[in-house]
Amino acid sequence: MKVKPVVVVSFILAFVFVWSFSSYAADPIQLPSPQTEGGKPLMQTLKERMTIRTFGDAKLSMQTLSNLLWAAFGVNRPDGRRTAPSAKNWQEIDIYVATPDGLFLWDAQKNKLNPILTKDVRAMTGGQPYVKDAAVNLVYVADYSKVNAGGLDQNVLVGADTGFISENVYLYCASEGLATVVRANIDREALAKEMKLKPEQKIILAQSVGYPKK
Ligand SMILES: Cc1cc2nc3c(=O)[nH]c(=O)nc-3n(C[C@H](O)[C@H](O)[C@H](O)COP(=O)(O)O)c2cc1C
Repeated sequence: MKVKPVVVVSFILAFVFVWSFSSYAADPIQLPSPQTEGGKPLMQTLKERMTIRTFGDAKLSMQTLSNLLWAAFGVNRPDGRRTAPSAKNWQEIDIYVATPDGLFLWDAQKNKLNPILTKDVRAMTGGQPYVKDAAVNLVYVADYSKVNAGGLDQNVLVGADTGFISENVYLYCASEGLATVVRANIDREALAKEMKLKPEQKIILAQSVGYPKK
């Protein structure tokens, strides 16, 4: 059977269109520099820190997302150390960011969002119904290849390191009038599979962030 040239050309054009669109969607996102001045005074922020589980529709701007991630676990010193402490400075917790546009892995040093998936996996990041409504869901993933606890309980240290990051997010949200809830209720096996995690990577907690429902 002879295929007409017009069919071949159409097929090639369709392929190039789909390919260019998908590669566009998969480009890393450079976040704006975080705004590291201002915010509410610390004691007021502590007074207002709380869990809120109802989220409005508004998205976070790229600036707010950058500020949030910097507060969570950003680089705050020239030697690469971070806004949250980590046992032996392992810096073993990676923050994955689930948004309506896809799943990203945040590169703290470059302040970039590296695409992992182009689909919306927010609902999969937790077992409770409100999870899908949050503008972003942060997933805290420990890379155990960076963990060398000696005689200590590595899971305790990893859990503590995650808690510091989560509390930073709570404080940033209290300061900015955002709603947040940290969550252990996750189907870790299903989410790890969806996120294509390696065996040495373990999901510790997730945290929903968004604007509170009015
Ligand atoms: C380690 C940890 C795990 C949590 N897991 C969940 C969870 O899976 N789902 C949820 O709705 N809240 C979860 N929470 C939020 C707590 O329920 C909440 O912090 C607690 O009720 C106290 O409320 P507050 O944060 O406003 O002080 C968790 C909190 C922590 C510290």
